[in-house]
Amino acid sequence: MKILVVGSGGREHALAWKLAQSPHCEQLYCAPGNGGMAQIAEIVPIEETNISMLARFAEEKKIDLTVVGPEVPLAMGIVDEFENRGLKIYGPSKKAAEIEKSKVFAKEFMKRHRIPTGRFRVADNPDQAMKILNSGEFEYPVVIKAEGLAAGKGVSVCANVKRAEDTIVEMMVKKKFGPAGERVVIEEFLRGREVSFIVITDGIRVQPLVTTMDHKAAYDGDKGPNTGGMGAISPSPFVSEQLFNQIMDEIIFPTVTRLLEEGRRFKGTLYAGLMITDDGPKVLEYNCRFGDPETQAQMLRLESDLVEVLMSVVDEDLLREEIKWSSKPSGCVVLASGGYPLKYEKGKLITGLEEVAKVPGLVIFHAGTSFVNGQFYTNGGRVLNVCASEPTLAQTMKKIYEHIPKIYFEGMFYRKDIGAVKEAR
Ligand code: AMP
Ligand code: GLY
Repeated sequence: MKILVVGSGGREHALAWKLAQSPHCEQLYCAPGNGGMAQIAEIVPIEETNISMLARFAEEKKIDLTVVGPEVPLAMGIVDEFENRGLKIYGPSKKAAEIEKSKVFAKEFMKRHRIPTGRFRVADNPDQAMKILNSGEFEYPVVIKAEGLAAGKGVSVCANVKRAEDTIVEMMVKKKFGPAGERVVIEEFLRGREVSFIVITDGIRVQPLVTTMDHKAAYDGDKGPNTGGMGAISPSPFVSEQLFNQIMDEIIFPTVTRLLEEGRRFKGTLYAGLMITDDGPKVLEYNCRFGDPETQAQMLRLESDLVEVLMSVVDEDLLREEIKWSSKPSGCVVLASGGYPLKYEKGKLITGLEEVAKVPGLVIFHAGTSFVNGQFYTNGGRVLNVCASEPTLAQTMKKIYEHIPKIYFEGMFYRKDIGAVKEAR
């Protein structure tokens, strides 16, 4: 089979790495890919949002399966476009991807179907937002979310009314996130432990992936601004069997079934970002795709053939036997550019990679890297993912942290406490 992976992050490198291990995979292409993916696949210089060019490429090359990583092309309708041309593609349709694209749709959907989530109100203009904030309906801190996609940056936890009003001005008047902030969701702040719960589904049946725990804050001890994710471990230490079943019954099955009933059959990866509160699990948000860096940790544990798993979703006949996973835990630590998630520089030479790549059992997934004249350079905020899977979590993290200092680029930083799990609250 000829397979095309769309995207350029660590998540896509991990998917490409696993797909390449399948005996079904004869040729692998990545668009636009990154420096690391260039080592295992043919790089196709087409941006992930250039859907018509990607479809034309897939037609010309007779691609048998396209796998989409990021949410933006999914929300734009890449799956509909490919399917209209008779091309096989893994991911939800535009209508199903609405669950991530529109926070208002997602919240109203959950309310309609009594899927547990925080209390909320929608504001269509700044006056309405100010009125809600001043009504006393919500305590502080309060959470304000831009309605549309804002690359994970459109969420603000506001400690007091001043901060909340400033956020409304930034989003709705100054349009910091463009049209994504023209409507906002004002939401109750939920306390608890965050869990990324990720499944794949053909729209009817569901296969859960192994649980993971992301580390969203930029610095150690969960300090600093929120990022796309600075590291992940699998399994999550906070999902007991009982909680797992509760999440499946109260959140995942109702979501998949109600989407189907509403004419939005969801085929692909459904990611529920959850807060485990004293009142049970509640949905913070849905994503319509794999997680980054959760996927890096999951792919290290996946023993089933990823091509077969994804094809069974595309063919609307999800694998009947359970997906097989290694019982060993896994971990992933992100090496980021100085300044990330705010302003950072690109184009820094990366050294030491070759040596570390040779360490048995260590796997390095690239994110923001480029490969020029035989050398790797930084090309994004999250640059590299150093991953391993050993018999225990402690051994896994020790192995990763032992070798990271051999890698260097100017400004490089990383969290030193990935997997150093403290008790909940
Ligand atoms: P979201 O993009 O909706 O997942 O929000 C990004 C991050 O903001 C989440 O991962 C949480 O850390 C935080 N967050 C979002 N909604 C809430 C909420 N209602 N209560 C507490 N924290 C939240
Ligand atoms: N790691 C968070 C996400 O993929 O959305």
